[in-house]
Amino acid sequence: MIDEIKSKIDTLTTELKEHNYRYYILAEPVISDREFDKMLKELEVLEKQYPEFAHPDSPTRVVGGAVTNNFVNKKHIRPMLSLANTYTEQELRDFDERVKKLAGTKIQYVCELKFDGFAIGLTYKKGKLVQALTRGDGISGDDVTENVKTIRTIPHQLIGNFPDEFEIRGEIFMHRKAFERMNEERIKNGEDPFANPRNSAAGTIKMKESSEVAKRPLDCFLYHFIGDENLFETHYQSLNAAKSWGLKVNDAARICNSIDEVWKFIKQWDKDRKNLSFETDGVVIKVNSLQLQHEIGYTAKNPRWAIAFKFETERVETKLISVDFQVGRTGAITPVANLEPVLILGTSVKRASLHNQDIIDQLDVRVGDTVFVEKGGEIIPKIVGVNISKRPLGTENLKFPENCPECNSLLLKNEDEAAHYCPNEDNCPPQIKGKLIHFVSRKAMNIDSIGDETIDLLWENELVKDFSDFYSLQFEDICGLSKKNFNEINGKEKNISLREKSAQNIIAGIVKSKNSTFRNVLFGLGIRYVGETVSKKLASYFNNIDNLAKASTDDLLKVDEIGERIAESVVKWFKNPQNLIIIEKLKKAGLNFESNENSQNALSGKLMGKSFVVSGVFTNFSRDGIKETIEKNGGKNIGSISSKTDFVLAGQNMGPAKLEKAKELGIKIISENDFIEMINE
Ligand code: IVH
Repeated sequence: MIDEIKSKIDTLTTELKEHNYRYYILAEPVISDREFDKMLKELEVLEKQYPEFAHPDSPTRVVGGAVTNNFVNKKHIRPMLSLANTYTEQELRDFDERVKKLAGTKIQYVCELKFDGFAIGLTYKKGKLVQALTRGDGISGDDVTENVKTIRTIPHQLIGNFPDEFEIRGEIFMHRKAFERMNEERIKNGEDPFANPRNSAAGTIKMKESSEVAKRPLDCFLYHFIGDENLFETHYQSLNAAKSWGLKVNDAARICNSIDEVWKFIKQWDKDRKNLSFETDGVVIKVNSLQLQHEIGYTAKNPRWAIAFKFETERVETKLISVDFQVGRTGAITPVANLEPVLILGTSVKRASLHNQDIIDQLDVRVGDTVFVEKGGEIIPKIVGVNISKRPLGTENLKFPENCPECNSLLLKNEDEAAHYCPNEDNCPPQIKGKLIHFVSRKAMNIDSIGDETIDLLWENELVKDFSDFYSLQFEDICGLSKKNFNEINGKEKNISLREKSAQNIIAGIVKSKNSTFRNVLFGLGIRYVGETVSKKLASYFNNIDNLAKASTDDLLKVDEIGERIAESVVKWFKNPQNLIIIEKLKKAGLNFESNENSQNALSGKLMGKSFVVSGVFTNFSRDGIKETIEKNGGKNIGSISSKTDFVLAGQNMGPAKLEKAKELGIKIISENDFIEMINE
């Protein structure tokens, strides 16, 4: 019995840590907040009864996240805590009772919307934004200042009568419309869409390149002032003051003089939240008096003076009719459930993703089952459980196919990945079609006259089998082509045909695409893990396709920010003779396989032929900025120090391991000022 309890505590601790990692670090949660809280409660109860088995770093004691490796890690001036969650009116009233016991009978609360985003702490000194830290593990977080500075609604300079120095915490998020637009764009460019606005905001703020962050439409609401304690009497006053300094505070915040008023606020917003331009997953209730907040205090993880009330996500029951196994562009197989149509949040839902084998096994879902379907923040509805009491007799476990449903190849699964995939990347039809769609997309060859339906048409008429076939298409081949297309969403058939004008536009688009830069062509080739940014780095490092094709894994690892996974994927791609034939044909068609970017935007050639490893933080440049300056002056950025490195450019907080290695190899270590002198000489 005791052994069982200990092992239950161990399992819950490990699983909750894993879910925390998925939520905070990967931004890809696989269970709902409600399920997480249920597990956490169970662990809390067990730990109370058997404290001797509790782990010192138990998720009941430590706030979820951990810092990621890409940014400088800094300590919070005060721990960045999370809030305890409530789900029922009774739990909310219990909170009110607890507060009253600690702080007297007449309590004033402030109710605010709970923004479903990514927590951030902004520090302002003399009105200037000087630092933005993520929550991290609650004690220290990642310094994402440069990325946060790209958010237009966060002022770099305050106005009015602001204090000399303070921190204000808030939530970075993405508006629904902006999120949908961004996802449409991603799909068009052959990239995977984000599951919901929260994930996309979290994923964006942790991107390495601030210039990429700037392209994503993020916003931020601020809700927690931390500074001179004598400045305000109430939290509400601090919100109004922050507004007057130019900071963005949400207008829904209200003072409530009783828990009944709080409940009214919650019920009202539960109805009205559909009309908001952003996602809210609940209401946050805070004691208004700052003096009382101080007296009521904190637990190890949460303030006792505040609580979150979480809205129900809409959950409905329906029948699982069948499961399709779809093959994506990268060969990943996604099981998709076909459901008896059901209305959720006003839209009819017929299909839901089952993600992968692990999720199917976890749910033990079977064809014929009555399943629970949820559509919370997610765009794609999710099956979250099975109503076992309604399971008909004779159902069978759902088996993942062993062979590809499209080309019959034996499916593979890497141990450390959840997805099965079809390895037949050169001949499996959906994979080839996916690659063709990616090739013509805007950030690759930008042939906007060719859409997905045209690709289908060209494919079915066997006119295009690989990228090079686009360049031998003639007007006469395509004018008048037609086919019937079945629209899955409205169940109607549509006739698609290429008229004269469309055929002319396609040919013109193909001809124009020959002007695309080498980096865009490289991106268009669809080499696994070679996205837009990696293409840019490879193109400018290797200058032309022949150098890149010859490069070994070690050569590739020298390129700034290229790791083993990417390097191996590139080498593998160029080893495939079929790909080399395509490159030859594309060369003959006149595509650009030579980089002339360095000379185009060059500031000078002062660093020509010199290679740099950049490390640490700089005063006059952002990290991206200093790397760009190196390239614009003819130099090269490389990822790791080797005997071929010319300079290590050392900023503050440079990693000791790098410093040691540079010294060991006798590589010249220069400061930011030395660098400035070098380029100004
Ligand atoms: S106050 C010390 N107010 O939800 C308490 N938090 O699940 C500081 N959140 O950690 C938090 N909207 O990241 C507060 N209006 C709001 C919020 C809010 C969203 C986030 C915040 C918090 C998490 C708790």
